[in-house]
Amino acid sequence: MQRIQYHQYGGPEVMRLEDFEPARPGRGQVLVRVRAAAANPMDWGLRSGAMKMVTGRTFPRGLGHDFSGVIEAVGPDVTRLGVGDDVLGGASIKASGAFGDMVVADVKAVVSKPANLTFEEAAALPTVGLTAFQALTKKGRLQPGQAVFINGCLGGVGRAAAQLALARGALVGGSCRDTAAQDARDLGIDPIVGFGFDPEELNGRFDLVIDTAHTLSDQGAKKLLKPGGRIVGLHPTPATFVKAALPGPFHVLLAQAVPEDLEEVARAAEQGALRVPIARTVRLTEAMEALTELEREGTPKGGKLIITTG
Ligand SMILES: NC(=O)c1ccc[n+]([C@@H]2O[C@H](COP(=O)([O-])OP(=O)(O)OC[C@H]3O[C@@H](n4cnc5c(N)ncnc54)[C@H](OP(=O)(O)O)[C@@H]3O)[C@@H](O)[C@H]2O)c1
Repeated sequence: MQRIQYHQYGGPEVMRLEDFEPARPGRGQVLVRVRAAAANPMDWGLRSGAMKMVTGRTFPRGLGHDFSGVIEAVGPDVTRLGVGDDVLGGASIKASGAFGDMVVADVKAVVSKPANLTFEEAAALPTVGLTAFQALTKKGRLQPGQAVFINGCLGGVGRAAAQLALARGALVGGSCRDTAAQDARDLGIDPIVGFGFDPEELNGRFDLVIDTAHTLSDQGAKKLLKPGGRIVGLHPTPATFVKAALPGPFHVLLAQAVPEDLEEVARAAEQGALRVPIARTVRLTEAMEALTELEREGTPKGGKLIITTG
């Protein structure tokens, strides 16, 4: 068994592809033979030590969150899924370890893989799908017929949010790179503005603003809102939690593993309402180079980086 892991927090240079002994699944956990995994910005955030209050100081630590695969073993009290099931899901922030041959995950973060999705397509879904779904519904309370503005509408979370909102009968506007405007138009996003847009142009048009790029000023985001509208940020920090606790439009999401929500995401993908494009697929043995490149470039162009095993 191999996985990408690291022995100290740091940059891409701390990653190693090494042999490891998978843990036995504990109570409420499953051991999954990974078929595919997907990269998210959170992966290098965790590896850098940005959340070491949560991730601790025990090494080596595995890397990677999103995966799809086949259940190899289940721990006590797991009844919803069983050995041999095809699944998709996410490893916990504390444990991580999806970039490997085997991963242990909490069963609450794992659901059945729709049969019409490949393992690669399924692995691309968990983080972006769950975050988009919870930003729209739990924090955003978006209703059919309402309008949402997505800042960064073609990133992983932004594109998923746009598709899920459109499928719920909402109107979607968004910002993206000027050269990608046709891609946004093809998704059904209207209006579309460039990264440097002036919020004044869209004054008072939206019930909900989701900032996936963390580039909107508070004043700019507020300008976009109709009276009573909500602003959902995806950057959970002490400062944003304080802002969200005060009266006003600001809310902050820390996506949670809720099986019913992940099932909704999987169902939307099964029905063709949600498609997360894949830009590049590499084998586990080539993955550190691809991850390093992706991290240095800042954001994936054209879709997810998928890592395959097995
Ligand atoms: N709170 C949570 O629970 C949670 C969960 C998941 C993710 N997140 C966070 O959410 C953020 C988005 O994640 P992701 O996976 O969607 O990342 P991503 O795929 O890298 O998407 C970011 C998007 O922002 C766009 N962008 C860059 N600069 C911009 C600007 N000035 N104005 C508007 N858009 C701009 C990028 O466009 P280009 O590609 O054209 O550069 C890209 O489409 C990350 O910071 C991630 O850590 C939070």
